[in-house]
Amino acid sequence: MPEMLEANVALLPGDGIGPEVIAEATKVLGRVGDLFGFRIQYKEAPIGGAAIDLTGVPLPPATLKTCRECDAVLLGAVGGDRWDSLPASVRPEQGLLGLRKQLGLYANLRPIVLWPQLASVTPLKREIIAGKPDILVVRELTGGLYYGSHRRFASKRAGGERAQDTMSYTTREVERVARVAFDAALKRRKNLTSVDKANVLSCSQLWRDTVGRLASEYPEVRLAHMYADNCAMQMVRNPQQFDVILTENTFGDILSDLGGALAGSLGMLPSASFGRGRRALYEPVHGSAPDIAGMNKANPLAAILSVAMMLRYTFGLLQAACAVETAVSDVLDAGYSTQDVAGGRTVVGTSEMGDLIVSHIQEGGSRTCVATR
Ligand code: IPM
Ligand code: MN
Repeated sequence: MPEMLEANVALLPGDGIGPEVIAEATKVLGRVGDLFGFRIQYKEAPIGGAAIDLTGVPLPPATLKTCRECDAVLLGAVGGDRWDSLPASVRPEQGLLGLRKQLGLYANLRPIVLWPQLASVTPLKREIIAGKPDILVVRELTGGLYYGSHRRFASKRAGGERAQDTMSYTTREVERVARVAFDAALKRRKNLTSVDKANVLSCSQLWRDTVGRLASEYPEVRLAHMYADNCAMQMVRNPQQFDVILTENTFGDILSDLGGALAGSLGMLPSASFGRGRRALYEPVHGSAPDIAGMNKANPLAAILSVAMMLRYTFGLLQAACAVETAVSDVLDAGYSTQDVAGGRTVVGTSEMGDLIVSHIQEGGSRTCVATR
């Protein structure tokens, strides 16, 4: 590297296991920084339930300001039973949704990789995972049902209550995320599956038409359309057929959790969200797992692999990203894992896993770059 990179990263640990996995992620970033010669300035800020407790709102303006001032945001998780009784508008989840929207992060990349060492841990049969699932889910992140109007009201006519959520998409919203997926497919196996429910939803018909039209600009990419229900089945039956999956917000949420099963655990899945500007948000796909929070049991690898994505995409430090992924592979090779992917392996805690990754990171580590390409 020509000169010392100094970067600002907003650190949003959030709730539940969030702070624990973020602590391991920054541990790893520290080690990588020492080896590859860069320094990161962290600016920590509250989000989600932690922010509600401190300030009364899940996304305090100061937190948003901190994120805007940084090159990247690293987030743990939000939510927990403690805040479940709050009205929908002040729940911890609104902090994350508000952040994604405010930063304009419309494309969420969720690589789903089955690390070969974990093949015995997935619930799928050996024949099915033999082809090593390697899927990139591109989830639209700032539109659809999540951002429609949400209402719940008494209705005489309905003889009780009525609840209503609206879903909408514009051509432009579909186009911009579809381009991200086509571009990603070009760099991978050039196979794109656009997932919708065009047999029922107008939004999906617009989605299908728009993606179909764009395809002519990407003649090298093989595009297929698939209904979301069928896609869920196909991911379990024959995951190898997929390269890049492009889908809207809600379907992407559901299908990426299904991807957690393909990978052995949601604790293995990192993600990166991009938008108009250069700023990106990195977060594990998993939630706050309140049942194991504070117990040193959570798998920090999703957060650590999110850091690898940050090194690759925000800082362009490809070698450093590979070094992290290689260390993950080496630690799995050595037989260690957290309890979620145990399967007869040596179970270690969250912080021990972080330490193991740190001790395995090497400068020349670019043997396997399998995780977050
Ligand atoms: C995810 C999570 C979030 C989502 C929740 C916490 C709002 O499940 O990132 O997948 O639904 O997007
Ligand atoms: Mn989810």
